[in-house]
Amino acid sequence: MKTARLHRLFNPRSGRCLDVAVDHGFFNEGSFLAGIEDLPKAVATLVAAAPDAIQLTVGQAPHLQRMPVRAKPALVLRTDVANVYGARLPRTLFSRMIDDPVGQALRLDAACVVVNLFCIPDQPELADQCIQNILRLKPACDTYSMPLMVEPLVFQADAKAGGYGVDGDPAKIIPLVRQAVELGADIIKADPTDDVVSQLATAAPDGEQLTDVELGMFLIQLLVAGNETTRNLLSGGLAALAARPRQWALLAADPRRIATAVEELLRWTTPVISFMRTATRPTELCGQEVAEGEPVLCLYASANRDEDVFGPDAGDLDVTRDPNPHVSFGFGVHFCLGAALGRLEARVVLEELLARFSTMSPAGDVVRAPSPVIAGVRRAPVVVTAR
Ligand code: HEM
Repeated sequence: MKTARLHRLFNPRSGRCLDVAVDHGFFNEGSFLAGIEDLPKAVATLVAAAPDAIQLTVGQAPHLQRMPVRAKPALVLRTDVANVYGARLPRTLFSRMIDDPVGQALRLDAACVVVNLFCIPDQPELADQCIQNILRLKPACDTYSMPLMVEPLVFQADAKAGGYGVDGDPAKIIPLVRQAVELGADIIKADPTDDVVSQLATAAPDGEQLTDVELGMFLIQLLVAGNETTRNLLSGGLAALAARPRQWALLAADPRRIATAVEELLRWTTPVISFMRTATRPTELCGQEVAEGEPVLCLYASANRDEDVFGPDAGDLDVTRDPNPHVSFGFGVHFCLGAALGRLEARVVLEELLARFSTMSPAGDVVRAPSPVIAGVRRAPVVVTAR
């Protein structure tokens, strides 16, 4: 019953496991020991702080397990000794497994064993040792229902960051995590990377992290907000330019116009047509009474064609329009979080297309997606002429 042990690891309220590692003596690196020299004291301090689990070595674990307290953090037993953490990597690197790791874990009443899966540039032998460790651990873990935690770690080159310089590149970490999963890991202890999901998952601006539900909701919002908008700006904008060869020619003649063109395409396409708001208090908008609790439809697309603001040619596409006070990204406190990214993507696409193609013209009807919210384009065939 691995599940029973897994339940001891995860916090019933958050569903997460805050696992604090002090298994540092195993790595024989002096700088890791500052503040944790006194083993029993370090363990007692951690127990008082009540994390969900504490990661210890065979020599440290008894300090936790002999404590006469009923509820205490679960023991995660480190099973491999490595010498990869020095400021400079030694000539020969190793990652050795302790003897009978699962037997020792059972005798120490551990909730889980942990083992590394290193990926260090130019050190394939080390990766091989780690894989051998995991392959040996896995059947014993399964036989004795001991959860197997794998810690995939990608380091930067020794010459670049030296020793424990973790590489935050998700493109390198994701395949290693996948490898750990396929080697049979029950739990992955992944280092946070510098990608936006890791940042959001670990940020605690007011001392409180987002819950899993909040994180999931926000990520869905980011995915939709960053996807439905930019791609419809690009497809709708390019279809509009294809139908107006003079505008394309203006851009081709002077690519410095791309900045104003991006703003005009934002205005012209208005990827988010409308959003609904609810009045939190009675108010008046353009002579219209709005009661508290009443819905108000913000029609960005209509505001972006307002002749009072944009003049009599508000209905025309003009890549040189300046100033261009469109509201395609909304306004106020909820002004689009991804405005800079959306603008950048549009600029890069225009730069690349203009550099490659001298003309662009329609090759069929534009098929739009019927929606009161998103100005979607399903199909917009164009023909281009290579420079
Ligand atoms: C052409 C591209 C884009 C357009 C036209 C657009 C449009 C909008 C609009 C109209 C709003 C609502 C503003 C308001 O409520 O007043 C908004 C909010 C938001 N957008 Fe965008 N967006 C674009 C790209 C992106 C991208 C690339 C991301 C992120 C990757 C993003 C993330 C968000 C988020 C998180 C919000 C909510 C902000 C808040 O409520 O505080 N958007 N966007």
